[in-house]
Amino acid sequence: MITGAAGGIGWATARRFVAEGAKVVGLDIDADRGAQMVDDIGAEHVTFVQTDVTDPEQVTAAVDGCVADHGRIDILFNNAATSTGGYVADLDLAGFDASIKLMLNGPLHGMQAAIPHMIEQGSGAIVNTSSVYGLVAGAANAPYCSAKAALINLTRVTALEYGRKGIRCNAICPGVVETPMFEQVLGIGLTTREEVAARHAIGRTIQPEEVADLVLFLASDESSAITGQAIQIDGGLLLETNLTGVPPVS
Ligand SMILES: NC(=O)c1ccc[n+]([C@@H]2O[C@H](COP(=O)([O-])OP(=O)(O)OC[C@H]3O[C@@H](n4cnc5c(N)ncnc54)[C@H](O)[C@@H]3O)[C@@H](O)[C@H]2O)c1
Repeated sequence: MITGAAGGIGWATARRFVAEGAKVVGLDIDADRGAQMVDDIGAEHVTFVQTDVTDPEQVTAAVDGCVADHGRIDILFNNAATSTGGYVADLDLAGFDASIKLMLNGPLHGMQAAIPHMIEQGSGAIVNTSSVYGLVAGAANAPYCSAKAALINLTRVTALEYGRKGIRCNAICPGVVETPMFEQVLGIGLTTREEVAARHAIGRTIQPEEVADLVLFLASDESSAITGQAIQIDGGLLLETNLTGVPPVS
């Protein structure tokens, strides 16, 4: 099961999972793009359930529906989010709460619904999408940064609590990925694609398919001893504190 499945990373991950033989249930609030995702990947491999992940009842219904249809839920990829902003002193509290509800409570809802089934199965892999902004600060980005940082420690606690039940839980921390969310950021007009690309050690932004490969790895038995980790897939974005002005080799 993938939340935010109609978005850039979720869609690419659904396609990657299906290529590996998985049956995917995609959840998203955007029904139009959800239908496009099913058309693109194929209704025999992926189903879409319009779901608002901030509503625990909707998420539980979707998870229970997945188990009713497929007999199990092996993988939960908690990935839905939106980018929100505002300087700390000016933050609208309702907006802050909404961000936490979407990007922290949302994954919690998925885990609360899926973990009982995973315990019964004796296995399960959970991947939560955090961000480099879960590790470092971004100005005018406190709601997003706070939710993504808290999600990393929620991931660790979940991994600790359920490891002996055969459940692993990891977080991923992407750098800048070429998705509609990045297009929104560019739309603000304060930076360019080229400037953002140059800040990554690899000299470019990240493709959603590259993130999908990491999610696949963390969801698979190939990562059977990895749990409770926040894994950066950031193209080296956070590597540099350049206090000398010396440039990398170009
Ligand atoms: N794109 C980046 O540069 C980047 C970097 C770091 C982390 N991330 C994270 O990656 C994840 C995926 O983002 P993306 O870049 O694919 O963005 P995206 O905007 O393409 O996809 C996000 C999806 O979440 C859905 N969504 C929003 N609110 C929802 C709700 N209440 N219920 C259900 N679905 C909802 C949206 O409809 C959208 O389809 C997010 O968690 C984001 O924070 C993205």
